[in-house]
Amino acid sequence: MELFDRIDPTRQWLEMKRQTGKTIGFVPTMGALHEGHIALVRRARKENDIIGCSIFVNPIQFNNPEDLEKYPRTLEEDLQMLREVGCDLVFVPSATEMYPGPVTEKYDFGSLERVMEGAFRPGHFNGVAVVVKKLFSIFNPDRAYFGEKDFQQLRIIQALVKMENLPVSIIPCPTVREMDGLAMSSRNRRLTAEERSVAPEIYRTMLEVSLRYGSLNVADARKMALERLTRCGFIPEYVEISAVSDLQPVLDWDDKIPTRIFVACFLGKVRLIDNLEIIS
Ligand code: PAJ
Repeated sequence: MELFDRIDPTRQWLEMKRQTGKTIGFVPTMGALHEGHIALVRRARKENDIIGCSIFVNPIQFNNPEDLEKYPRTLEEDLQMLREVGCDLVFVPSATEMYPGPVTEKYDFGSLERVMEGAFRPGHFNGVAVVVKKLFSIFNPDRAYFGEKDFQQLRIIQALVKMENLPVSIIPCPTVREMDGLAMSSRNRRLTAEERSVAPEIYRTMLEVSLRYGSLNVADARKMALERLTRCGFIPEYVEISAVSDLQPVLDWDDKIPTRIFVACFLGKVRLIDNLEIIS
């Protein structure tokens, strides 16, 4: 497995492969890898000749300095996992390699970025879009893999690709969960043992909303979810029941409109997000 921390050799190595007719699959990450990330790499492995990953804790997408500082960093274990799953190249740049000067690009994703993570984490999606666009320009992949765990991010990346006519297919991948339903996340490592035992309530709450489809109206389902999470010790930031297409809240159930429930909440100091398809 090739390991690079500079842009030019990464680009050159991939370009050399591309010229021999190989297809390139790309999985961008911030490291502290778990089975959710590895599922994306496995999927990429199946669908492409060459697999590239990036590990970069992107400072410009963090709006909370403590979250950035405490973000888990486990490079040696990450590299071992990537070797085992058959990744061909890993790019681990420094912040100055990625951002030699001030970042000035400003994207407008319209209503997609005015809700949920966009509303609660100002500047977050601009930071994500800037880094992903730059990584795409380095990897020049045929396909790039993103998890539905970060569903709004996935929709933003799809919008970015469309807006900028980027020559890459975005492949959405389902959320990988622990046995008890907790969505895998690098931030789960920061939960205390007690918090970890409560954390699967997010999934159970979302399931309950999905099961109550039709029997509760949307507003009551949302209220029930907020109350259940609060009772279990979470501090919810939002619970939204929204259309997949534009991520705007729905007022009524409609089985013709694909809908998901989205949750962001604090458990102690750790902010967790998750979402689930509502099955009618
Ligand atoms: P990170 O949180 O490391 O996630 C990297 C990719 O793994 C994202 O596409 C994310 O949705 C996916 N992922 C995380 N947990 C998952 C799970 N439980 N199941 C399935 N997929 C999962 O998302 C980022 O990094 C960054 O914002 C990035 C896109 C790398 C830009 O900096």
